[in-house]
Amino acid sequence: MADKKIYSASTTAPVNIAVVKYWGKRDAKLNLPTNSSLSPAAALSPRTPSRQTACFRELKALRKKLEDANPSLPKLSEYHVHIVSENNFPTAAGLASSAAGFAALVRAIANLYELPESPTELSKIARQGSGSACRSLFGGYVAWEMGQAVDGSDSCAVEVAPASHWPELKAAILVVSAAKKGVSSTAGMQATVNTSALFAHRARDVVPKRMEAMRAAIRNRDFERFAAHTMADSNQFHAVCLDTTPPIFYMNDVSRAAIRAIEALNTLEGRVVGAYTFDAGPNAVIYYREKDEEKVLGFLGELLAPEVAEWAGKYAKVALEGYDNKLFEALKDGVSRVILTRVGEGPIRTDDTLIGTDGLPS
Ligand code: DP6
Repeated sequence: MADKKIYSASTTAPVNIAVVKYWGKRDAKLNLPTNSSLSPAAALSPRTPSRQTACFRELKALRKKLEDANPSLPKLSEYHVHIVSENNFPTAAGLASSAAGFAALVRAIANLYELPESPTELSKIARQGSGSACRSLFGGYVAWEMGQAVDGSDSCAVEVAPASHWPELKAAILVVSAAKKGVSSTAGMQATVNTSALFAHRARDVVPKRMEAMRAAIRNRDFERFAAHTMADSNQFHAVCLDTTPPIFYMNDVSRAAIRAIEALNTLEGRVVGAYTFDAGPNAVIYYREKDEEKVLGFLGELLAPEVAEWAGKYAKVALEGYDNKLFEALKDGVSRVILTRVGEGPIRTDDTLIGTDGLPS
């Protein structure tokens, strides 16, 4: 009799906002990058995923191997798979939601198929769905090693440090626009590789050293160095976008106002309390330490919602002395919401399934 049982597996996966950016492919089919990259995993988690075939093919092949070796296993590799996903992050707005989606897809299917492969092995599969997804198979601080092999066998994610090593890191995401981005990452980075002269310098001379510096900063919980490299890397990533023909603009006036605001905050405090970074979109991600939360959120609160008494004037003079008021007004008008998160865990298996007992979305 045919096996009518429904097998299901659900998982979450974190988004990740890179502090050393992935931008450029040396092999578009295998999705092999031109430089390594690094990100903390944020503790926000969409459940399962959306698109695709390269990932499925490889996961099914791994399951088939298990079934061939052990004929008593149910032939799940021959079953149809229903995927149901839910995302609690703005999709395609340059907020790494595709990374979480693919990582959740790969992790959920690997759980369903009871695959013994490690997160690093699975990251090679997730990478083929979306490059940055390979980093979302881990929690904490994660590097995607670009690797050298032409077949991509050494291009994978590795843990730099678990979240518990440096749990104080938090992030405020200033949502400037949740609209779908104009130029997709895939198309944008191909154009950059093909046309930017600055790009080769970044991939060859800058990122390898920065990866080392960033690892050391994380190892030593050195926020100042972490912040300096985070901001410099974001700025250089957007510089190579600008150096692309035709130029790609992911940041807008509101994004630039956010940069000025964080600079003003750091100057006022006389030390680095916040570090900004921007992915392929205008939304600002501000990394800071828990101990500075009141300072960072108080400052942002005053700029974004000055009418709320709670923020009460500590920073009010910022806008008056030496800074361009219009810039801060742009920020106030342009930021629609703020999402707070912190460095968190990797994919988490959950019983909270999105699939009903009939195998269809519930
Ligand atoms: C700017 O992973 O979305 O967020 O591999 O083509 O799917 P594809 O690109 P994707 O690119 C992300 C680029 C980035 C930087 C980063 O996350 O490292």
